[in-house]
Amino acid sequence: MNANEQKKAAALKAVDFIKSGMIVGLGTGSTTTFAIREIAVRLKNGKLKNIKGIPSSMVSEKLARDLNIPLITFEDETQIDVTIDGADEVDPKLNLIKGGGGALLREKVLAQASKKNIIIVDASKLSYKLGVKWALPIEVIPFAANLEIEYLKKLYGLPEIRKHDDGSFVKTDQSNFIIDCNFGKIDDPYSLSTLLNMRAGIAEHGMFIDLATDLIVADKNGIEHFEKNKLNEFYSAFVNLIQV
Ligand code: A5P
Repeated sequence: MNANEQKKAAALKAVDFIKSGMIVGLGTGSTTTFAIREIAVRLKNGKLKNIKGIPSSMVSEKLARDLNIPLITFEDETQIDVTIDGADEVDPKLNLIKGGGGALLREKVLAQASKKNIIIVDASKLSYKLGVKWALPIEVIPFAANLEIEYLKKLYGLPEIRKHDDGSFVKTDQSNFIIDCNFGKIDDPYSLSTLLNMRAGIAEHGMFIDLATDLIVADKNGIEHFEKNKLNEFYSAFVNLIQV
């Protein structure tokens, strides 16, 4: 399987967990796009009925609307049955770095509201430790951006405001900025998370700790499904898939 076939295979497997009548969180990114398209196909051919989606970004909302997936908001329901989303990096405890697409704040809101949170990735995203393959995206309010950059330097991070090719700042769906902060290998995601959460100017960071319940990984040989509540059993299978 090539890279796109791997993403699609993981996405299709995740959609199998959606049953008719469910409220479904729609993540953001190229892998999740395959899942959203598959939900639309199954709604059209009658394999799924009465699905209500809650999108994690304006991009996913538009895609779902274009595909006629019925959408609701947290005004209508406050619990999601299953969310399907991608990730930028995944460690063996199923902790994640997310936010490569800038949607980390709403994605985390969805993840915290979900009974089941299925992450779909190709094997290139797997890591022994977070931070090895991906800088940590951090959403900051523009008013505090320079203050938070100074704070992140004090934590020994290398912060960089995300910009478009023309030099303008990338804005999130909340009109905030993203700082990509390279901390190198993150030995203690819990402590770093606490240090980031205590800052008023930081709206959210892209470490998703203890939020994923399931991980579906595709590589050239096929698909593996890992469950958070069976961590001990899957460690060696997970490590075997890591590409260094
Ligand atoms: C969006 O903000 C991210 O969290 C994505 O879920 C993540 O970047 C994965 O995207 P891909 O599936 O495109 O790699």
